Amino acid sequence: MDHPSFHASAQASSDPAPSLLDTSKTKIVVAKTAPSSATCIGLAIGTDGELPRELGLDREALAAAGFEGKLGDVQVVPQAKGPLLVVFGIGKRGELDVSKLRDAAALCARAAGTHEKIALAVPDLKHLSPELVAQALVEGAVLARYQYLLKATAKGPTPLRELTLVSEKAGEELKRGSELGSVTARATQLARDLAEAPATLLSARRMAEIAEALATECGLDVEVFDEKALLEMGCGGLLGVNAGSVEPPRMIKLTYRPKGQATGNVSVVAKGIMFDSGGLGLKPNDLVHATMKGDMSGAAAVLAAMTTLRALDCKNVVTAYLMCTDNMPSGTAMKLGDVLTVRGGKTVEVINTDAEGRLVMADALVLSTEQNPRPDAIIDIATLTGACQRALGLLTAGVLGNHQPLVDQVIASGQRTDEQVWQLPLEKRYRKELDSNLADLKNVGGENAGAITAGLFLEEFVDGIPWAHIDIAGTARLDSAETWRPPGATGFGARLLVDFLMAFTPPAQVH
Ligand code: BES
Ligand code: ZN
Ligand code: ZN
Repeated sequence: MDHPSFHASAQASSDPAPSLLDTSKTKIVVAKTAPSSATCIGLAIGTDGELPRELGLDREALAAAGFEGKLGDVQVVPQAKGPLLVVFGIGKRGELDVSKLRDAAALCARAAGTHEKIALAVPDLKHLSPELVAQALVEGAVLARYQYLLKATAKGPTPLRELTLVSEKAGEELKRGSELGSVTARATQLARDLAEAPATLLSARRMAEIAEALATECGLDVEVFDEKALLEMGCGGLLGVNAGSVEPPRMIKLTYRPKGQATGNVSVVAKGIMFDSGGLGLKPNDLVHATMKGDMSGAAAVLAAMTTLRALDCKNVVTAYLMCTDNMPSGTAMKLGDVLTVRGGKTVEVINTDAEGRLVMADALVLSTEQNPRPDAIIDIATLTGACQRALGLLTAGVLGNHQPLVDQVIASGQRTDEQVWQLPLEKRYRKELDSNLADLKNVGGENAGAITAGLFLEEFVDGIPWAHIDIAGTARLDSAETWRPPGATGFGARLLVDFLMAFTPPAQVH
């Protein structure tokens, strides 16, 4: 039966990922002086150090306006003639790090919110490389100005069309950093778009089409597996979750191969639940659940990260599996008590149809273990548990794994990108909560430690390969702005994964 979603065709003209359009791209420039096109200039000011000459104000005057140069301080300074000046605080210069600088740039760009073309004076910092400084400034400013709009008429916010980094020492390093920032910011924008796109607009099929188009553009191999292929492959997890839906499932496999000798080989698995209704165990009709269109934020982050690898000349082979379907209730939906057979033959008793992410990912984890050669590591990323959100809040994701050096690599990437992750223990003694009388395991444990039992479930499918699982249920979206994260989908994971995949080195096997 082919049931196109009832109004999907009426929506076909809306683009789920407007950030991909050239017209929504921010042009990034590095120059020795601010261009005349810039109508606003941002000046970084610390609590110590000299004030920029062009400001024409002393510290006393700024202090009178309540501006001391602390992180979080921002002040618009009109001029009789010429561009608007925005001073933004960077605190004590010697204590400034990349994350704080990204935050500060975001604040400045937001204060300049009605300006299409802005310039940022690059602060001279002895302890941070110009490359890192440029990257942070670009990421902060571009990401803070992001908006996902499907409006045809109403006046929207002013897009940031051009960002110039201004430094007398403008050179190769600044240029490289700004290019890197541009690539990672664009990836995050794409991840945000996809996660923010309404589920009817972005079905699993549409996601596959977008992935196919991007793969061609970005030098990736892509294979899309439909229902028939999934059936032949025995992917009972993805098919089981899809059973209640009129929309068919898609497994999207993307492969990146470096041009020369590869350093390592990583497999990445992502939850791509286009909408999580809870299945027959329907979620209540409340505001939180209106955000379940973002239950594919893991898949969005992975697709976005994959698009950057060629441009950044990643040295690792990366194979990604995006497990896409929605989770819907209907007469054909999987029932409570059903037993699914996932790829490789293990059986799972479904005692909660809302714990669907782990079911779709199980198939992909097994497929990863079957790759030849076997991957050095498997990473997965998913909006998996409300328990993780409760434990760590909206700014910290959970990470669990069977291999500490690999988990440490994820944590390090989280620190470098300010997409913070915090490790939870993969406590083996909780494993018995997943025991089932009739199947190899149940799909949920007891009422406690839901993020951990979810991790233990996934571990069953990785066959001992070094593996780390990132739970982004809490970090995938925000209701109110946090520096460079506007309200809505955050794109969390895209930059973290880019950093991780670029820096990955095969961890030593631990027995
Ligand atoms: N998609 C949800 C998890 C989620 C919760 C994501 C909040 C984003 C924000 C997941 O499929 C789910 O429903 N998990 C259940 C698991 C439970 C049934 C064991 C949960 O967290 O309640
Ligand atoms: Zn879900
Ligand atoms: Zn669910």
